[in-house]
Amino acid sequence: MRAGKSLRTTGNKTNLIQSKLQVNGGSKSRKLVKCDKCEMSYSCTSIEDRAIHEKYHALQLHGRKWSPNWGSIVYTKERHSGTVHLSRSTGTITPLNSSPLKSSPSVAHQEENIVLVRPDKPNGEGRAMMEIMTLVNNELNAPHDENDIWNSTTEERGRAFAYIRNNRAVGVIIIENLYGCDGSVSNRGRWMVYDSRRLVQNVYPDFKIGISRIWVCRTARNLGIATKLIDIARENIIYGEVIPRCQIAWSQPTDSGGKLASKYNGIVHKSGKLLLPVYI
Ligand SMILES: CC(C)(COP(=O)(O)OP(=O)(O)OC[C@H]1O[C@@H](n2cnc3c(N)ncnc32)[C@H](O)[C@@H]1OP(=O)(O)O)[C@@H](O)C(=O)NCCC(=O)NCCS
Ligand SMILES: [Zn+2]
Repeated sequence: MRAGKSLRTTGNKTNLIQSKLQVNGGSKSRKLVKCDKCEMSYSCTSIEDRAIHEKYHALQLHGRKWSPNWGSIVYTKERHSGTVHLSRSTGTITPLNSSPLKSSPSVAHQEENIVLVRPDKPNGEGRAMMEIMTLVNNELNAPHDENDIWNSTTEERGRAFAYIRNNRAVGVIIIENLYGCDGSVSNRGRWMVYDSRRLVQNVYPDFKIGISRIWVCRTARNLGIATKLIDIARENIIYGEVIPRCQIAWSQPTDSGGKLASKYNGIVHKSGKLLLPVYI
């Protein structure tokens, strides 16, 4: 989050708005501090700002609280306290808020799930997902216009999945179907040169699905969660079909998104340049 901005809530919506500095009107100006962990700037003398920061900080670092009744499970990973490792290569993930060296009964046999978020359920999962997406879009400086993709109960243009660990949504992905209802190709696919971020001219590759947004909370990054979310999304977007890795494109990848994309499905062109599959 950029310095000089703070997070405010209006009703159910959370927005980034410019923090007001009191000049003369108040007896003293409100000094902004920047949290080095979540990067939010806020006034530490304001009770309201401190409360907003606390909420944002928890969400950004540890994800959002998630009820076990929310979402339909599409993937489960059993986690046993005795087999927890730090290494990605083993495929196991260290529990949040716990040392990998300690085995505590509270983390034994816990599950980690990926759930499909169901917009038609009036039980709060859609609202919780929207709250996460507000944070994600603010962090990415992205428009808040992707929710129609997964949140429509009439026309399904895509799906939202969340990675649930310790009753918190620690990662999310929004997948967009790039094919029309009649199976027609969208013509939105492009190749992007990784180094220059330029789109390759006059080439229109045919990608099936797109990653509209992907996000993992800060303490859960670099553990393979984003990769797992994409893998599971590829299996659960079109009924009876597993979309191949090479058929998934990225929407304006960020720096970290570009690095993830280059590992996940970048290709090396005969010129030696790394190309990423993207869509516009
Ligand atoms: C991008 C993001 C989703 C990656 O999530 P993640 O769970 O940490 O990713 P993974 O652990 O699955 O990473 C998979 C691979 O990508 C690489 N990678 C991912 N993010 C990286 C980063 N910031 N820097 C370097 N490499 C990175 C990893 O090295 C890993 O390769 P490895 O297995 O060889 O080590 C996460 O950093 C994030 O939420 N960033 C902020 C939001 C954002 O920018 N989203 C992307 C929008 S396009
Ligand atoms: Zn913070």
